[in-house]
Parts: sequence; structure tokens; C-alpha cells
Amino acid sequence: MQSVVRPESMARITTPELANAFIEDQVAKVRAQVGDKKVLLALSGGVDSSVVAALLIKAIGKQLVCVHVNHGLMRKGESEQVIEVFGKELDANLIYIDATDRYLELLKGVSDPETKRKIIGNEFIKIFDEEAKKLEGIEFLAQGTIYPDIIESKGVKAHHNVGGLPEDMKMDLVEPVALLFKDEVRVVSEALGLPHAMVYRQPFPGPGLGVRCLGAITRDRLEALREADAILREEFDKCGLAEKVWQYFIAIPDIKSVGVRNDVRYEGWPAIIRAVNTTDAMTATIEEIPYPVLHHITDRITHEVEGINRVLLDLTPKPIGTIEWE
Ligand code: XMP
Repeated sequence: MQSVVRPESMARITTPELANAFIEDQVAKVRAQVGDKKVLLALSGGVDSSVVAALLIKAIGKQLVCVHVNHGLMRKGESEQVIEVFGKELDANLIYIDATDRYLELLKGVSDPETKRKIIGNEFIKIFDEEAKKLEGIEFLAQGTIYPDIIESKGVKAHHNVGGLPEDMKMDLVEPVALLFKDEVRVVSEALGLPHAMVYRQPFPGPGLGVRCLGAITRDRLEALREADAILREEFDKCGLAEKVWQYFIAIPDIKSVGVRNDVRYEGWPAIIRAVNTTDAMTATIEEIPYPVLHHITDRITHEVEGINRVLLDLTPKPIGTIEWE
């Protein structure tokens, strides 16, 4: 990460015109820095790495090699969107790695949250390193570092460093959005033509659904979580809550209770809804979801998702509850 200081004179990028000027400037800078060499980028599909990918594709086209590692803990449709947007629409040089089986095998039986995090983070580094070694002539590493990552040394990304890269990867860095705040990244992303859903994606932790599939992860509970989460997001989109709520998701604990379905006893997991508002993720308040919306979500999840027989609502602010359950 560069230790750069944002110049006092740098105006906030708030309009498409300012974004275009920034893009033109960065395209020229990247071309000057990189020349005819190749650049490697870990593309998660989050807005920061996506904006870097789009910018570099514009600047150097196929000299950029994007690696997307699907750890199997992505939300529904996320890896598919990366392939669609970058692989197809932007015609990027994209390496897609489906590491789902590898991750689930490593995580089998592991219930301690910190150990789970370590496994997920270390494996990412290993896979990325393996891929980098297969490639020839890579001289630069691009990163979606943004300004808050640099100034907030105790920030979310700094202490949750899953997705960090191999320390011994000795390559020069290309960090074209290192001076931007998040709102500016979004304006620039839209000017680059990235889809709205990608640009305004709610924060999603590096270890993904791994921190929401509580205890030891199993394929069936992970699948139930992914489907229930997709329903929650779909319903929040429909009723306008998606635009309003900072972060919302489902967590599924490793417990079962008794229920009935089609007149027979049906043991299932509870899906816990968490929807919070915050500005800095250090404290958070609870969004008051209207009851009709909650009833509808409950109805859909319990009828459409295999393995879930109850829906619960988490009313705990932070503190004392953290945002994630882990
Ligand atoms: P907690 O659970 O500590 O979460 O209240 C605060 C915020 O941090 C997000 N989070 C992460 N973000 N990588 C990230 O980039 C991570 O490993 C990670 N873990 C938690 C969490 O979703 C919430 O927004």
C-alpha cells in the first residue's frame, strides 16, 4: 500500500464530468507507469477491485490479468456477475478459479470463527500465488486500495485482512484509486459503465458467507444461507429498503428445531435476519423493517428454502452485538 497524502487542492469527484477527467488522467498515468508490461489484479467483484479492473482495461486492455477466486462463500450470482461483466462485456483477460471444493474440504468440521477466517484468508493467498507463478512477464500488481484504507490504519479492511496478498510478492504496485473516498469510487465506477448493483453493493466481508454460516460449515446449510440471503436481497430491492439500509443479511446458526411441513415433522435451521444502519461500522442501529415485509420474507424463506423452518429477527444494536454473527 502506498503512503500517499491526498492534496488539499484535490476537489471531491461528484459529477460524471469530474469522473471522466479523473479517468483520462489515470489512464495516461497507468500507461506511463506500466508501458508494455503485464499487471495482475485480484478481482473480488467488490466495487474497489472492480473499478480498478475497469480503469485498467481501459488503459492497457489485455495487459491486465484479472484473477477471480470463487471460494464458494460468495453470495448468489456474484461470481457469475464478475464473469459476465468482466469476462464477457469488457472482454477482460480473466482467470476464473472455482475453489469451492478446496475451501469446503479445508473448512470441514472447523467451528472456531478465527480459525475459519485464517483458513479462508491463507487459502486465498495460496491460490493467488499459485496462479501468479503460472503466468509469465507480470511486473505489476494492481490493488483497489482507497483513501480510507490508507488513513484508517484501524479501519475495517486493515484489521479484517482476508483477501490480503502474498507478502513476498515483490511487484510494483498500481493503485489508481488510492486517493479516492468511497463516494468518489462510486461516481468513477458509474462513469466507467459498471452496473449499478455492483457499484452500490453493500459491504460484504472478505470471508463472505463463511462468517454467516455459523459453526462448522456444511454444504447444505451454506446453500440454504445463500438462497435465503438472495430472497432477503430481492425483497429489500422490491420495497426500497435496499437503497436505505447500510447492511442486511441472513445468518444461520448450527442448530435445528422442530417444525411441521405438509403435516409431517420437519427439523430445520432458523434463518436470522440482520439489517443495520451505520456510518463507520463501529456502532450500528437497527432498521425497523415493516411487519408486512417481514411476514412476506418469512413466508418465502420457509417455503422456498430447503432446510429452513423458522425466520428470526435480530434486534441488537452494536454495541453490544457486532454486525456480523461469526
Ligand atoms: P463487525 O462484525 O465487526 O463488522 O461489527 C463490522 C463491519 O466489517 C465487516 N467485516 C469485514 N469486512 N473483511 C471486510 O472487508 C472482513 O473480513 C470483514 N469482517 C467483517 C462487516 O460486514 C461489517 O460491515
